[in-house]
Amino acid sequence: MAKVVIISGSPTPTSRLHGVIDHAKAQLEQSGIQTEWIKVRDIPAEDLMYAKFDSEAIVKVNAAVAGADAVFVATPVYKASYTGVLKALLDLLPQKGLEHKIVLPLAVGGTIAHMLAIDYALKPVLSSMGAQNILQGVYVLDKQVTWGGNGEAILDEEISARLQESVGQFIQEINWHTQKKGSPVT
Ligand SMILES: Cc1cc2nc3c(=O)[nH]c(=O)nc-3n(C[C@H](O)[C@H](O)[C@H](O)COP(=O)(O)O)c2cc1C
Repeated sequence: MAKVVIISGSPTPTSRLHGVIDHAKAQLEQSGIQTEWIKVRDIPAEDLMYAKFDSEAIVKVNAAVAGADAVFVATPVYKASYTGVLKALLDLLPQKGLEHKIVLPLAVGGTIAHMLAIDYALKPVLSSMGAQNILQGVYVLDKQVTWGGNGEAILDEEISARLQESVGQFIQEINWHTQKKGSPVT
């Protein structure tokens, strides 16, 4: 079974980003893909702050990413870029930790003006980590995400369709590489 590791870079407990990921994760699982979700806010702060490469949590993250076919990297936009805590975690992965992985980036921001943060900020970091197959990515405006009565995130129609389409392409790419081709991603 193909496996996707989701890395989310939101430090907040009530996160719109996490609400968006819930939708993407359900779509991945419905298509038979196994997921593992790593939230930066669940990693001990000291591990991130003091770059504890050999901490239990970081070793676990490394193993999860190494064993995945694909990685979904998602972040809120902070100061026109990805969050500092996401970078703190990525810094603790191996230099070429995303080699042979299919990567889908996603960002949630407050303004459309920072839509290109995926391209000018996040993608260069992912490329430097060896990722060669990075999909276009999805940019979500925070106002496109509201909360339902049970605390579930409700996506507006337009972003819901765009997310489904991008995750669908991600799934196709994963299936092509893992089932049909049967060889590692290059
Ligand atoms: C410290 C901070 C800085 C932010 N900077 C930006 C920014 O530069 N551009 C932008 O579009 N949104 C910015 N935002 C808005 C967030 O990206 C947006 O509210 C997002 O939904 C937050 O993610 P979360 O709901 O997962 O916490 C910022 C929010 C915070 C808290």
